[in-house]
Amino acid sequence: MKKAILITGGAGFLGKKYCQFFLKKKFVVLCVDNDKKKIKNLNNLNLKNLHTYECDITFESEIKRLSKEINKSFFVNILINNAAIDAVPFKKEKKNQKFPTSEMWDKEMNVSLKGSFLMIKYFGEKMAKKKQGSIINIGSDLSLIAPNQNIYKSSYGNYVKPVTYSVIKHGMLGMTKYFASLYGSKNVRVNMLSPGPIKNNQSPKLIKELKNLIPMNRLGKYEEMFGLLNFLSSDESSYLTGQNILVDGGRTII
Ligand SMILES: NC(=O)c1ccc[n+]([C@@H]2O[C@H](COP(=O)([O-])OP(=O)(O)OC[C@H]3O[C@@H](n4cnc5c(N)ncnc54)[C@H](O)[C@@H]3O)[C@@H](O)[C@H]2O)c1
Repeated sequence: MKKAILITGGAGFLGKKYCQFFLKKKFVVLCVDNDKKKIKNLNNLNLKNLHTYECDITFESEIKRLSKEINKSFFVNILINNAAIDAVPFKKEKKNQKFPTSEMWDKEMNVSLKGSFLMIKYFGEKMAKKKQGSIINIGSDLSLIAPNQNIYKSSYGNYVKPVTYSVIKHGMLGMTKYFASLYGSKNVRVNMLSPGPIKNNQSPKLIKELKNLIPMNRLGKYEEMFGLLNFLSSDESSYLTGQNILVDGGRTII
């Protein structure tokens, strides 16, 4: 059975870069995403050893179907739980508008927390049985600190970053520690890579605000995530588990 790395949200901005990085490293890469159009764009690149799967990870029935299909041909020994919905800051014009709607709440929780949990249930369990594997959950600087609302206020107007992103990213940390402990004796390691803001078409105003909060005085580049991903997916990190590693230019130390 061929070993493979599975990346959820693999057709998004960072997921796609991660797929391409691991393909260059000669991995077999399984990209899971629910966005048809993005998957089509990725397929159009005709990348060798890339397999794409359209799947909404918030539905257990879909993940069950996905795992059946994948497990016929591959053993997923590295799982990257990358899919998430980044709540866009919204304007708090009316009373209570600083709060997400309950639909937003459910959707964001379901993609990050339920989706990652289900992926671990179907793919992590297989790793535990085989006593090998590495699970990498994707966090954020907001897995450690609260959003600084001043930057959204001044760069967008009277905007607020919703509570949901803080909850999902702190929740991912709890899930990381839980499964690191549960699977510790099974030789399955579970860690979290938490990037700071990565440069990608942000407005100059927002970039300026963010830079002021980052000791290295700049946003991250997507390729600056590769080193840690490589390390966490290799035996070089064989005694590292349950950790949240911040790759954030020092954003969370001040
Ligand atoms: N971009 C940044 O600056 C940054 C910074 C810190 C952390 N992160 C984290 O990195 C990860 C990737 O971020 P990104 O900027 O590439 O986001 P993105 O929105 O470009 O990618 C997310 C992908 O997840 C997919 N997705 C959403 N719901 C899904 C579902 N139900 N089932 C399957 N796939 C689904 C989307 O289609 C999309 O392709 C996220 O966890 C994000 O929180 C990003």
